[in-house]
Amino acid sequence: MRRWKNALLAVDSNLDVEVWPNVKNDQRVQFAVTWHQPNHVLERYPNLKAISSLGAGVNHILEDETAPQSIPLCRVVSPSLTQQMKEYIFAAVLNYQRNMFTYYRQKQQGKWQEHRHRSSGDIRIGVMGLGALGKPIAKALADFGYSVTGWSRSPKDMEGVQTFAGADELNDFLNRTKVLVCLLPLTEATRGILDLDLFKKMQRPGYLVNVARGDHLIEEDLIYAIDKNWLTGACLDVFGEEPLPGKHPFWNRENIMITPHISSITQPDEVAEQIVDNYKRVLSGMKPNHQVDRLRGY
Ligand code: NDP
Ligand code: OXD
Repeated sequence: MRRWKNALLAVDSNLDVEVWPNVKNDQRVQFAVTWHQPNHVLERYPNLKAISSLGAGVNHILEDETAPQSIPLCRVVSPSLTQQMKEYIFAAVLNYQRNMFTYYRQKQQGKWQEHRHRSSGDIRIGVMGLGALGKPIAKALADFGYSVTGWSRSPKDMEGVQTFAGADELNDFLNRTKVLVCLLPLTEATRGILDLDLFKKMQRPGYLVNVARGDHLIEEDLIYAIDKNWLTGACLDVFGEEPLPGKHPFWNRENIMITPHISSITQPDEVAEQIVDNYKRVLSGMKPNHQVDRLRGY
Protein backbone atom coordinates (compact mmCIF):
# COMPACT_ATOMS: atom_id res chain seq x y z
CA MET A 1 0.00 0.00 0.00
CA ARG A 2 3.01 2.32 0.25
CA ARG A 3 2.79 3.08 -3.48
CA TRP A 4 -0.83 4.12 -3.00
CA LYS A 5 -0.09 6.31 0.00
CA ASN A 6 2.80 8.02 -1.81
CA ALA A 7 0.73 8.57 -4.95
CA LEU A 8 -2.10 10.20 -2.95
CA LEU A 9 0.32 12.39 -0.98
CA ALA A 10 2.06 13.41 -4.21
CA VAL A 11 -1.27 14.89 -5.34
CA ASP A 12 -1.87 16.67 -2.03
CA SER A 13 0.75 16.52 0.72
CA ASN A 14 -1.75 17.91 3.27
CA LEU A 15 -3.84 14.76 3.16
CA ASP A 16 -3.88 12.47 6.14
CA VAL A 17 -3.58 8.98 4.61
CA GLU A 18 -3.60 5.94 6.86
CA VAL A 19 -3.23 2.33 5.81
CA TRP A 20 -5.58 -0.16 7.46
CA PRO A 21 -5.19 -1.74 10.01
CA ASN A 22 -2.96 1.08 11.31
CA VAL A 23 -5.77 3.57 11.76
CA LYS A 24 -5.17 5.72 14.84
CA ASN A 25 -8.59 7.28 15.22
CA ASP A 26 -11.65 5.65 13.62
CA GLN A 27 -13.68 8.87 14.10
CA ARG A 28 -11.44 10.80 11.73
CA VAL A 29 -11.83 8.50 8.72
CA GLN A 30 -13.97 10.21 6.08
CA PHE A 31 -13.08 8.46 2.82
CA ALA A 32 -12.10 4.82 2.29
CA VAL A 33 -10.26 3.45 -0.76
CA THR A 34 -10.51 -0.33 -0.78
CA TRP A 35 -9.91 -3.60 -2.60
CA HIS A 36 -11.29 -6.83 -1.12
CA GLN A 37 -11.60 -5.42 2.39
CA PRO A 38 -12.56 -7.96 5.05
CA ASN A 39 -16.12 -7.70 6.36
CA HIS A 40 -16.67 -5.47 9.41
CA VAL A 41 -13.83 -3.09 8.56
CA LEU A 42 -15.78 -0.32 6.84
CA GLU A 43 -18.50 -0.29 9.53
CA ARG A 44 -15.95 0.91 12.08
CA TYR A 45 -15.79 4.47 10.76
CA PRO A 46 -18.83 6.48 11.96
CA ASN A 47 -17.89 9.55 9.90
CA LEU A 48 -17.21 7.76 6.62
CA LYS A 49 -18.68 9.87 3.78
CA ALA A 50 -17.86 7.75 0.72
CA ILE A 51 -16.12 4.57 -0.42
CA SER A 52 -13.98 4.23 -3.54
CA SER A 53 -12.88 1.01 -5.18
CA LEU A 54 -9.17 0.79 -6.02
CA GLY A 55 -10.18 -0.72 -9.34
CA ALA A 56 -12.92 -0.65 -11.94
CA GLY A 57 -15.06 -3.34 -10.32
CA VAL A 58 -17.10 -2.71 -7.17
CA ASN A 59 -18.69 -6.11 -6.52
CA HIS A 60 -16.33 -6.70 -3.57
CA ILE A 61 -17.78 -3.62 -1.86
CA LEU A 62 -21.43 -4.27 -2.74
CA GLU A 63 -21.12 -7.86 -1.51
CA ASP A 64 -19.90 -6.68 1.92
CA GLU A 65 -23.20 -6.40 3.80
CA THR A 66 -21.43 -4.96 6.82
CA ALA A 67 -20.26 -1.89 4.86
CA PRO A 68 -22.32 1.32 5.12
CA GLN A 69 -25.08 1.12 2.51
CA SER A 70 -26.28 4.71 2.25
CA ILE A 71 -23.10 6.63 1.42
CA PRO A 72 -21.83 7.19 -2.15
CA LEU A 73 -19.73 4.48 -3.75
CA CYS A 74 -17.37 5.25 -6.63
CA ARG A 75 -14.70 3.53 -8.70
CA VAL A 76 -11.78 4.40 -10.94
CA VAL A 77 -11.94 4.85 -14.68
CA SER A 78 -8.69 5.51 -16.50
CA PRO A 79 -7.13 5.43 -19.97
CA SER A 80 -4.43 3.09 -18.66
CA LEU A 81 -7.01 0.49 -17.58
CA THR A 82 -8.56 0.65 -21.05
CA GLN A 83 -5.19 0.43 -22.83
CA GLN A 84 -4.02 -2.56 -20.78
CA MET A 85 -7.32 -4.37 -21.30
CA LYS A 86 -7.13 -3.65 -25.04
CA GLU A 87 -3.66 -5.21 -25.17
CA TYR A 88 -4.83 -8.31 -23.31
CA ILE A 89 -7.91 -8.85 -25.49
CA PHE A 90 -5.87 -8.40 -28.68
CA ALA A 91 -3.31 -10.90 -27.38
CA ALA A 92 -6.07 -13.41 -26.59
CA VAL A 93 -7.85 -12.99 -29.92
CA LEU A 94 -4.67 -13.06 -32.02
CA ASN A 95 -3.33 -16.14 -30.21
CA TYR A 96 -6.64 -17.85 -30.96
CA GLN A 97 -6.84 -16.65 -34.55
CA ARG A 98 -3.23 -17.58 -35.45
CA ASN A 99 -3.22 -20.92 -33.58
CA MET A 100 -0.35 -19.76 -31.39
CA PHE A 101 -1.10 -22.15 -28.52
CA THR A 102 -1.06 -25.08 -30.95
CA TYR A 103 2.28 -23.93 -32.40
CA TYR A 104 3.67 -23.50 -28.88
CA ARG A 105 2.76 -27.11 -28.08
CA GLN A 106 4.13 -28.29 -31.44
CA LYS A 107 7.43 -26.54 -30.76
CA GLN A 108 7.76 -28.45 -27.49
CA GLN A 109 7.26 -31.67 -29.50
CA GLY A 110 9.64 -30.61 -32.30
CA LYS A 111 6.73 -30.80 -34.73
CA TRP A 112 6.51 -28.81 -37.98
CA GLN A 113 2.88 -28.72 -39.05
CA GLU A 114 0.92 -25.95 -40.67
CA HIS A 115 -2.65 -25.08 -39.66
CA ARG A 116 -5.13 -22.98 -41.59
CA HIS A 117 -6.18 -19.75 -39.94
CA ARG A 118 -9.11 -17.46 -40.50
CA SER A 119 -8.81 -13.96 -41.89
CA SER A 120 -9.67 -11.13 -39.50
CA GLY A 121 -12.90 -10.33 -41.33
CA ASP A 122 -14.05 -13.91 -40.74
CA ILE A 123 -13.63 -13.68 -36.98
CA ARG A 124 -16.87 -12.62 -35.37
CA ILE A 125 -16.23 -11.17 -31.93
CA GLY A 126 -19.03 -10.42 -29.48
CA VAL A 127 -18.23 -8.07 -26.60
CA MET A 128 -20.54 -8.39 -23.58
CA GLY A 129 -20.57 -5.08 -21.73
CA LEU A 130 -20.07 -1.80 -23.57
CA GLY A 131 -18.96 0.39 -20.69
CA ALA A 132 -15.74 2.24 -19.91
CA LEU A 133 -13.73 -0.79 -21.06
CA GLY A 134 -16.00 -2.71 -23.43
CA LYS A 135 -16.94 0.18 -25.71
CA PRO A 136 -13.44 1.37 -26.71
CA ILE A 137 -12.27 -2.24 -26.95
CA ALA A 138 -15.13 -3.22 -29.28
CA LYS A 139 -14.30 -0.19 -31.41
CA ALA A 140 -10.56 -1.03 -31.52
CA LEU A 141 -11.32 -4.63 -32.55
CA ALA A 142 -13.62 -3.39 -35.32
CA ASP A 143 -11.03 -0.84 -36.50
CA PHE A 144 -8.51 -3.70 -36.70
CA GLY A 145 -10.75 -5.51 -39.16
CA TYR A 146 -12.69 -8.01 -37.04
CA SER A 147 -16.41 -8.32 -37.39
CA VAL A 148 -17.63 -7.03 -34.01
CA THR A 149 -20.95 -7.00 -32.18
CA GLY A 150 -21.66 -5.66 -28.70
CA TRP A 151 -24.24 -6.30 -26.01
CA SER A 152 -25.22 -4.03 -23.14
CA ARG A 153 -28.14 -3.31 -20.86
CA SER A 154 -29.25 -0.12 -22.61
CA PRO A 155 -29.12 0.43 -26.41
CA LYS A 156 -25.94 1.89 -27.90
CA ASP A 157 -25.14 3.42 -31.25
CA MET A 158 -21.58 2.62 -32.33
CA GLU A 159 -19.93 3.16 -35.68
CA GLY A 160 -18.56 -0.13 -37.04
CA VAL A 161 -20.05 -2.27 -34.24
CA GLN A 162 -23.49 -3.88 -34.45
CA THR A 163 -25.08 -3.48 -31.03
CA PHE A 164 -27.71 -5.41 -29.10
CA ALA A 165 -29.32 -4.61 -25.77
CA GLY A 166 -31.10 -6.38 -22.98
CA ALA A 167 -32.20 -9.95 -22.40
CA ASP A 168 -34.52 -9.87 -25.46
CA GLU A 169 -31.61 -9.35 -27.85
CA LEU A 170 -29.09 -11.67 -26.18
CA ASN A 171 -29.86 -14.60 -28.51
CA ASP A 172 -29.39 -12.48 -31.64
CA PHE A 173 -26.07 -11.28 -30.25
CA LEU A 174 -24.92 -14.83 -29.43
CA ASN A 175 -25.97 -16.23 -32.82
CA ARG A 176 -23.53 -13.81 -34.43
CA THR A 177 -20.68 -14.50 -31.99
CA LYS A 178 -17.76 -16.88 -32.38
CA VAL A 179 -15.31 -15.28 -29.97
CA LEU A 180 -17.05 -14.06 -26.83
CA VAL A 181 -15.33 -11.41 -24.70
CA CYS A 182 -16.91 -10.86 -21.27
CA LEU A 183 -16.51 -7.33 -19.90
CA LEU A 184 -19.63 -7.19 -17.76
CA PRO A 185 -19.72 -6.10 -14.13
CA LEU A 186 -20.61 -8.86 -11.66
CA THR A 187 -24.19 -8.21 -10.54
CA GLU A 188 -27.21 -10.30 -9.60
CA ALA A 189 -28.25 -10.19 -13.28
CA THR A 190 -24.87 -11.28 -14.68
CA ARG A 191 -23.64 -13.85 -12.13
CA GLY A 192 -23.34 -17.23 -13.87
CA ILE A 193 -24.28 -15.77 -17.27
CA LEU A 194 -21.49 -17.72 -19.03
CA ASP A 195 -23.25 -21.07 -18.86
CA LEU A 196 -24.09 -24.01 -21.09
CA ASP A 197 -27.24 -22.40 -22.41
CA LEU A 198 -25.21 -19.39 -23.58
CA PHE A 199 -22.39 -21.48 -25.09
CA LYS A 200 -25.00 -23.52 -27.02
CA LYS A 201 -26.25 -20.39 -28.76
CA MET A 202 -22.84 -19.18 -29.98
CA GLN A 203 -21.40 -20.00 -33.40
CA ARG A 204 -19.50 -23.29 -33.21
CA PRO A 205 -16.87 -23.97 -32.33
CA GLY A 206 -16.55 -20.75 -30.37
CA TYR A 207 -13.94 -19.33 -28.04
CA LEU A 208 -14.33 -17.56 -24.68
CA VAL A 209 -12.28 -14.71 -23.25
CA ASN A 210 -13.31 -13.86 -19.68
CA VAL A 211 -11.60 -10.87 -18.14
CA ALA A 212 -14.51 -9.65 -16.02
CA ARG A 213 -15.14 -11.79 -12.93
CA GLY A 214 -14.77 -15.52 -12.26
CA ASP A 215 -18.34 -15.76 -10.98
CA HIS A 216 -19.70 -14.84 -14.41
CA LEU A 217 -18.67 -18.33 -15.49
CA ILE A 218 -20.14 -21.70 -14.56
CA GLU A 219 -16.83 -23.53 -14.62
CA GLU A 220 -18.13 -27.05 -15.20
CA ASP A 221 -20.22 -25.77 -18.13
CA LEU A 222 -17.05 -24.49 -19.80
CA ILE A 223 -15.42 -27.89 -19.49
CA TYR A 224 -18.54 -29.59 -20.88
CA ALA A 225 -18.76 -27.12 -23.80
CA ILE A 226 -15.08 -27.73 -24.67
CA ASP A 227 -15.53 -31.50 -24.44
CA LYS A 228 -18.54 -31.24 -26.78
CA ASN A 229 -16.44 -29.05 -29.12
CA TRP A 230 -18.98 -26.23 -28.87
CA LEU A 231 -15.97 -24.17 -27.79
CA THR A 232 -12.38 -24.80 -28.90
CA GLY A 233 -11.05 -23.26 -25.71
CA ALA A 234 -10.91 -20.25 -23.45
CA CYS A 235 -8.59 -17.56 -22.20
CA LEU A 236 -9.39 -16.78 -18.56
CA ASP A 237 -7.97 -14.01 -16.38
CA VAL A 238 -10.47 -14.27 -13.53
CA PHE A 239 -11.74 -17.18 -11.44
CA GLY A 240 -14.34 -17.97 -8.80
CA GLU A 241 -11.48 -18.64 -6.40
CA GLU A 242 -8.25 -16.67 -6.75
CA PRO A 243 -5.49 -17.77 -6.74
CA LEU A 244 -6.84 -20.70 -8.74
CA PRO A 245 -6.37 -23.75 -6.46
CA GLY A 246 -3.54 -26.08 -7.48
CA LYS A 247 -5.92 -29.03 -7.98
CA HIS A 248 -8.38 -27.12 -10.17
CA PRO A 249 -9.26 -29.04 -13.39
CA PHE A 250 -8.55 -25.95 -15.55
CA TRP A 251 -4.79 -26.35 -14.95
CA ASN A 252 -4.69 -29.62 -16.90
CA ARG A 253 -6.76 -28.43 -19.84
CA GLU A 254 -4.44 -27.51 -22.66
CA ASN A 255 -7.16 -25.45 -24.39
CA ILE A 256 -7.68 -23.21 -21.37
CA MET A 257 -5.19 -20.37 -21.08
CA ILE A 258 -4.87 -19.06 -17.52
CA THR A 259 -3.52 -15.70 -16.36
CA PRO A 260 -3.54 -14.53 -12.72
CA HIS A 261 -5.98 -11.56 -12.86
CA ILE A 262 -3.51 -9.27 -14.62
CA SER A 263 -5.36 -8.14 -17.70
CA SER A 264 -5.63 -4.56 -16.44
CA ILE A 265 -3.99 -3.36 -13.26
CA THR A 266 -4.79 -0.01 -11.64
CA GLN A 267 -1.71 2.20 -11.56
CA PRO A 268 -1.68 4.34 -8.36
CA ASP A 269 0.11 7.29 -10.02
CA GLU A 270 -2.46 7.40 -12.76
CA VAL A 271 -5.60 7.39 -10.63
CA ALA A 272 -4.45 9.18 -7.45
CA GLU A 273 -5.63 12.53 -8.77
CA GLN A 274 -9.19 11.32 -9.44
CA ILE A 275 -9.34 9.67 -6.02
CA VAL A 276 -8.19 12.84 -4.25
CA ASP A 277 -10.59 14.87 -6.37
CA ASN A 278 -13.46 12.60 -5.34
CA TYR A 279 -12.45 12.88 -1.69
CA LYS A 280 -12.61 16.67 -1.95
CA ARG A 281 -15.89 16.61 -3.87
CA VAL A 282 -17.50 14.44 -1.21
CA LEU A 283 -16.23 16.62 1.64
CA SER A 284 -17.77 19.66 -0.03
CA GLY A 285 -21.11 17.91 -0.43
CA MET A 286 -20.78 17.16 -4.16
CA LYS A 287 -21.39 13.80 -5.85
CA PRO A 288 -18.18 11.87 -6.60
CA ASN A 289 -17.27 11.18 -10.22
CA HIS A 290 -17.77 7.61 -11.50
CA GLN A 291 -20.42 6.99 -8.87
CA VAL A 292 -21.91 3.50 -8.78
CA ASP A 293 -25.64 2.95 -8.90
CA ARG A 294 -26.08 0.63 -5.91
CA LEU A 295 -29.43 -0.68 -7.20
CA ARG A 296 -28.06 -1.61 -10.64
CA GLY A 297 -24.93 -2.99 -8.99
CA TYR A 298 -22.42 -1.22 -11.23
P1 NDP B 1 -18.85 -0.34 -16.77
O1 NDP B 1 -19.69 -0.26 -15.57
O2 NDP B 1 -18.29 0.93 -17.35
O3 NDP B 1 -19.67 -1.05 -17.97
C1 NDP B 1 -20.48 -2.15 -17.74
C2 NDP B 1 -21.18 -2.53 -19.04
O4 NDP B 1 -21.91 -3.74 -18.82
C3 NDP B 1 -22.18 -1.48 -19.51
O5 NDP B 1 -22.16 -1.37 -20.91
C4 NDP B 1 -23.52 -2.07 -19.05
O6 NDP B 1 -24.64 -1.70 -19.84
C5 NDP B 1 -23.26 -3.54 -19.23
N1 NDP B 1 -24.15 -4.33 -18.38
C6 NDP B 1 -24.30 -4.30 -17.04
N2 NDP B 1 -25.26 -5.15 -16.63
C7 NDP B 1 -25.76 -5.71 -17.76
C8 NDP B 1 -26.79 -6.65 -18.00
N3 NDP B 1 -27.50 -7.18 -17.00
N4 NDP B 1 -27.04 -7.00 -19.28
C9 NDP B 1 -26.33 -6.46 -20.30
N5 NDP B 1 -25.33 -5.56 -20.13
C10 NDP B 1 -25.06 -5.19 -18.87
O7 NDP B 1 -17.68 -1.37 -16.45
P2 NDP B 1 -16.17 -1.39 -16.99
O8 NDP B 1 -16.21 -1.43 -18.48
O9 NDP B 1 -15.37 -0.32 -16.35
O10 NDP B 1 -15.63 -2.78 -16.39
C11 NDP B 1 -16.30 -4.00 -16.60
C12 NDP B 1 -15.79 -5.03 -15.62
O11 NDP B 1 -14.49 -5.47 -15.99
C13 NDP B 1 -15.60 -4.54 -14.18
O12 NDP B 1 -16.83 -4.52 -13.48
C14 NDP B 1 -14.65 -5.55 -13.61
O13 NDP B 1 -15.39 -6.61 -13.06
C15 NDP B 1 -13.88 -6.06 -14.84
N6 NDP B 1 -12.47 -5.66 -14.80
C16 NDP B 1 -11.52 -6.65 -14.75
C17 NDP B 1 -10.18 -6.34 -14.72
C18 NDP B 1 -9.15 -7.40 -14.70
O14 NDP B 1 -7.98 -7.10 -14.49
N7 NDP B 1 -9.49 -8.64 -14.96
C19 NDP B 1 -9.73 -4.93 -14.71
C20 NDP B 1 -10.80 -3.98 -14.81
C21 NDP B 1 -12.12 -4.35 -14.84
P3 NDP B 1 -25.12 -0.15 -19.98
O15 NDP B 1 -24.05 0.51 -20.86
O16 NDP B 1 -26.40 -0.23 -20.65
O17 NDP B 1 -25.14 0.42 -18.59
C1 OXD C 1 -10.69 -4.22 -11.50
C2 OXD C 1 -9.86 -5.43 -11.52
O1 OXD C 1 -11.91 -4.33 -11.38
O2 OXD C 1 -8.62 -5.31 -11.48
O3 OXD C 1 -10.13 -3.12 -11.59
O4 OXD C 1 -10.39 -6.53 -11.59
